[in-house]
Amino acid sequence: MSVPAAPRHIVIAVDGPAAAGKGTLSRRLADHYGLRHLDTGLTYRATAKALADRGLPFDDEEIAATIAADLDLGHLDRSVLSAHEIGEAASKVAVMPRVRKALVEAQRAFALSPPGAVLDGRDIGTVVCPDALVKFYVTASPQTRARRRHDEIVGNGGQADLATILADIEKRDARDTGRTDSPLRPAADAHLLDTTEMGIEAAFDAARALVDTALER
Ligand code: DC
Repeated sequence: MSVPAAPRHIVIAVDGPAAAGKGTLSRRLADHYGLRHLDTGLTYRATAKALADRGLPFDDEEIAATIAADLDLGHLDRSVLSAHEIGEAASKVAVMPRVRKALVEAQRAFALSPPGAVLDGRDIGTVVCPDALVKFYVTASPQTRARRRHDEIVGNGGQADLATILADIEKRDARDTGRTDSPLRPAADAHLLDTTEMGIEAAFDAARALVDTALER
């Protein structure tokens, strides 16, 4: 009598700079393969917001690490956390090794619980889930990313200035790639997806083909 194969635990790592399309790609992959999804940027954002809400400083590593360790990953409200100032504050707390250690632990636990997950961020393939089945590094030119972010804000009825957004994206890139602990960089075995020309839909098709191939191995 044949025993049905146990469902496979799959982890997919998606890294890349701000506004490259990794969130959309990750959600699509999670839906397609029936996996859970975690936008790890929200964990840094939630830590920054919890500090701000309590009137605590952003530059005290011990306090920030305590807040990070207490975070509930089940209650990350994207609509509140996506505010621009929270992103700025998040990239400051994200340079602190003790904050990263606490959040990485929670992110790994998320990835390891069944049936598996798609995690997106800056250090998923390099630090959080180095054994992920498939790793992607999603990028696009700063101009393309700034244009997308601009159109998204305007599309939601907000006001945005393209030049300011571009300057911001460049500043954020410098901070994310330049920090000592877990800087943003592609894992050696990551598949590079440049969405400048191909767009998100084509990126999803390419990513799905690569995951299917990995699943057949
Ligand atoms: O992707 P985002 O804009 O929500 O991320 C907010 C900040 O958090 C970003 O500046 C970098 C940091 N971050 C990180 O250091 N590591 C991650 N895995 C995810 C985000």
